[in-house]
Amino acid sequence: MADLFEKLLINRGPLGTHSKAAYGYFMFPKLEGDISNRMIFRGKEKLVWSLNNYLGLANHPDVRKADADAAAQYGFASPMGARMMSGNTVHHEQLENALAAFEQKEAAVLVNYGFQAMVSAIDCLVDRHDVIVYDSESHACIIDGVRLHMGKRFVYPHNDLANLEKQLERARKITEQTGGAILVITEGVFGMSGDQGKLKEIIDLKKKYPFRLFVDDAHGFGTMGKTGAGTGEAQGVQDGIDIYFGTFAKSMALIGAFIASEEQVVDYLKHNMRSQIFAKSLPLPLVIGAQKRLELLMGRPELKDNLWKIVNALQSGLKKAGFDIGKTDSPVTPVYLNGSIPEATNLIIDLRENYDIFCSMVVYPVVPRGVMILRLIPTAVHTMEDVKYTIDVFQQVQVNLKNGKYKSDKIVPV
Ligand SMILES: Cc1ncc(COP(=O)(O)O)c(C=O)c1O
Repeated sequence: MADLFEKLLINRGPLGTHSKAAYGYFMFPKLEGDISNRMIFRGKEKLVWSLNNYLGLANHPDVRKADADAAAQYGFASPMGARMMSGNTVHHEQLENALAAFEQKEAAVLVNYGFQAMVSAIDCLVDRHDVIVYDSESHACIIDGVRLHMGKRFVYPHNDLANLEKQLERARKITEQTGGAILVITEGVFGMSGDQGKLKEIIDLKKKYPFRLFVDDAHGFGTMGKTGAGTGEAQGVQDGIDIYFGTFAKSMALIGAFIASEEQVVDYLKHNMRSQIFAKSLPLPLVIGAQKRLELLMGRPELKDNLWKIVNALQSGLKKAGFDIGKTDSPVTPVYLNGSIPEATNLIIDLRENYDIFCSMVVYPVVPRGVMILRLIPTAVHTMEDVKYTIDVFQQVQVNLKNGKYKSDKIVPV
């Protein structure tokens, strides 16, 4: 028999294995100062490309004032308890109505954390007779929700429509036997590669297969589509999304999330999502703060225009300079390079210490061995100078990478 704690020390998990060496630099770094394109890392200003503050709302003066006023008026305790028991307010309901109208859905339900809500929504929407079919590159919250499912689940390779059809065929056969239903789950914008889920093509398959579509649009809400209503709007298929999920954690620069759908489905979710029934409601300053952010998101199109000006300049500049940015068709900008994990580590140190650029790095096992992704998140508060500087620097570090400079394990002592 083993002692649980001893076991945990032997196998610390894929990230935990590196916890000592990476703490404070590669993992749990502290970015200080106002959230913006320039922040302080280890006492020095860096150009930051790591934050999902797409519209620049985090530090918008109207937002800061609304947050401060609401905190002063209500404090963070209010309301106490779960929504269903004692934690409901007029503001929660107003925000739900505004989100539903914005997403062109009958109703919406506010949830306190996007991750938990996705897990819980998937859990309560299906029973063991139903089949879930989902994209292989789905976010961890979708995977965890699917893990709870007692019935069959089929995964299709990322955005592979032919394979999706095969899985739908299998799902149809099973549900014909069980009397169950089919739920397809995908993302609007995939957060690593930046490509959009093929919503239009998936929705077209409804003509052949009976299923409902659940879209996690964490990265698309506020950034995609004419009004910012998301990837469904961008692809002209908002109607075909049966259940729409958006989080406040990205373009709204807050905490909280929502799910929008038909009224009866939202009512079902409200009464069955365990993560919401058995958890405290969102505090009023967060709800009022979200109302202000939504007002700006809908009423100040120049914020999204600024975002896209930076996105287009960055992505076209990188492509012109010969970089591989994959299939992105959203603000998420991955730069694919070839190199080992030690090389990736040294390249990041060089970028941070010698060029004052802070961006995230993705390596194996998220991407195949030998591939690294420098993941850039452009925002409305970046400037054209930031874009130009970054592309120049990336060209230099790419030359260094090709010349083997990062093969040494002592680029800069951390
Ligand atoms: C695709 C996707 N879904 C869900 C979430 C979770 O949202 P939240 O941060 O509100 O828990 C995230 C955030 O990382 C995400 O990227």
